[in-house]
Amino acid sequence: MNVILFGPPGAGKGTQAKIIEEKHGLRHMSTGDMLRLEICRETDIGRRVKSIMEDGRLVPDEIVIEMIAGRIDRGECQNGALFDGFPRTVAQGQALDKMLAERDLKIDYIIVMTVGDDVIVERIRKRAKEENRSDDTVATLEKRLAQYRAYSAEVLPFYRLRKQFFEIDGNRPVADVTREIENILGHK
Ligand code: AP5
Repeated sequence: MNVILFGPPGAGKGTQAKIIEEKHGLRHMSTGDMLRLEICRETDIGRRVKSIMEDGRLVPDEIVIEMIAGRIDRGECQNGALFDGFPRTVAQGQALDKMLAERDLKIDYIIVMTVGDDVIVERIRKRAKEENRSDDTVATLEKRLAQYRAYSAEVLPFYRLRKQFFEIDGNRPVADVTREIENILGHK
């Protein structure tokens, strides 16, 4: 089973992905986490993307597609994957469809988590106190939200007409959101 979790910053994609990957034995594929690891290891990719991420902009398609392709090539999706924060452009979505189709795989569920801006701001403000993400500042969050509005307007029409497309209310408590995702995943 291959699942895409799509939503704005602070929607709870990572939180839900960690719960669901354990329950369903899926591989959590967060491009944000992969990029932060590259920065932390001071790799060439890390050096290229650091200022882009700090500025709340999207990293070039070829970098994220290459990272995901590497993991798929290594067989990391063999038992199913949970894509968190990927795809963010139609080019990424097309590349993912192609990479999966080459292995007789496909996307089984696209779950879009909608959350109000006020809730997002509150969650990110709270996380900024608990963690140390350099893009969790007020100014960068505004840019990330603007980016989300722009790329979701491009990507959602790409997926919306598929029968595997679901939209859920991510404003609710974590356990309620998990329950709804579980219901969707049990639904063929
Ligand atoms: P990425 O790491 O993907 O960040 P994001 O999409 O902005 O998402 P967040 O991690 O902020 O939020 P989340 O939805 O995972 O929420 P979380 O569960 O953490 O991307 C970062 C950057 O990398 C991008 O800006 C871009 O530059 C680059 N990038 C990444 N992928 C890319 C791609 N494909 N193409 C191009 N560039 C890319 O929750 C947030 C907080 O809220 C937590 O503290 C959590 O505890 C809390 N919380 C979660 N759910 C709830 C709930 N239901 N109730 C109360 N609190 C909750």
